[in-house]
Amino acid sequence: MAELHPDSAYAPERFADPAKKVEFSPEAKKKFDYLLTRYPNKEAALLPVLHLAQEEWGWISPEAVHYIGGLLDLSPATVFGVVSFYNMYNQKPVGKYHVQVCTNLSCMIGRAYDIYEGLCEKMNVQPGQTTPDGKFTITEVECLGSCGTAPVVQINNDYHENMTVEKVDALLKTLK
Ligand code: FES
Repeated sequence: MAELHPDSAYAPERFADPAKKVEFSPEAKKKFDYLLTRYPNKEAALLPVLHLAQEEWGWISPEAVHYIGGLLDLSPATVFGVVSFYNMYNQKPVGKYHVQVCTNLSCMIGRAYDIYEGLCEKMNVQPGQTTPDGKFTITEVECLGSCGTAPVVQINNDYHENMTVEKVDALLKTLK
């Protein structure tokens, strides 16, 4: 079994860099304090606090995992377990617009791969990569739970339903 140590080749990016400190902005801290009032204990607030962190930094870095664990009295392993379980939490930095294309059954039948592969080709990126200007990250995702309106593309927090290659092209042109 791979050794879980910062010097090992096994997922070194998962270890927090002690030189890098993260801290919520005063505005996010206020939201955090409010969130704690909405849940019976700190652990129960973990999911919304992770959403808050993602709003703040765009992704959940290893440093953020430790910071949030400290705020909620949870081990980094507990926080990381949750972050890695749900694919709505970004474990890597993403572009200004995170374009997530569902390719599960209903969407696939609706030609989602034409949309997904077409986007990667047009933007000249590999799946999961971000364009060099930092504007778009193109990701393939599992069912977005909106199969009745397939194919579905999620851009940041918004769903776009009944998509076609042409509709996605037109939509992306409106994003500055
Ligand atoms: S298969 Fe795409 S939303 Fe369910």
